[in-house]
Amino acid sequence: MTNTTRANSPKKIAVLISGNGSNLQALIDDQTQVPELYEIALVVSNRPDAFGLKRAQQAGIPSLCIDHTAYDSREAFDATVQNVLEQATIDFVVLAGFMRILTQAFTRNFLGKMVNIHPSLLPKYTGLHTHRRALEAGESEHGLSIHFVTPELDGGPVILQAKVAIEPDETEQSLQQKVYHQEHIAYPLVIRWLCRGEVSLADNHVIYQQRRLEHPLTIDA
Ligand code: GRF
Repeated sequence: MTNTTRANSPKKIAVLISGNGSNLQALIDDQTQVPELYEIALVVSNRPDAFGLKRAQQAGIPSLCIDHTAYDSREAFDATVQNVLEQATIDFVVLAGFMRILTQAFTRNFLGKMVNIHPSLLPKYTGLHTHRRALEAGESEHGLSIHFVTPELDGGPVILQAKVAIEPDETEQSLQQKVYHQEHIAYPLVIRWLCRGEVSLADNHVIYQQRRLEHPLTIDA
């Protein structure tokens, strides 16, 4: 899907959201720092009330809602999203709080071209309510993972993790805020690597600066 005729042009990314879009905002802000590297060419939400759509509009970024409730099947919804992304000649798909499970066909189509951010230190706490579950389990640290998307839910090879300490008086809300803060630093960093070709996927492994990663990269709070 990468358009080789624009090898030296900014990479075109699409950000898929379902809600608040604070990670989208972090990318909007980052993009203005490196306009030669990437542009957010499209924002897609599956929910019409997603605040992230307003963020896109305020930034002058093309956006649209593809309401999943209007589709009979996951396959039909994903096919529409895929068509929209291909029409927009997108280089990379960035999932940022996109709360839909994608079909295997969709994930295979964008293999190596699609990343997700998940609020836990994967493989721990796939799925929802990760902050609460980490607290309830008595963890001393928590964090986020940015990974390539594969057909396995929250299971693709992890590029980068950021850790935060869990303090004795930690609440679900305070932990969420700490993780959010790190998310907004980490995601733009990884998107820059991706767009520079410094990180890629090969044989279900992350390649970073031409070396296969044995463990995710880390940044500490
Ligand atoms: C983030 O915590 C992200 O890790 C998870 O969903 C949340 C999205 O938040 N996948 P926002 O919409 O970017 O504010």
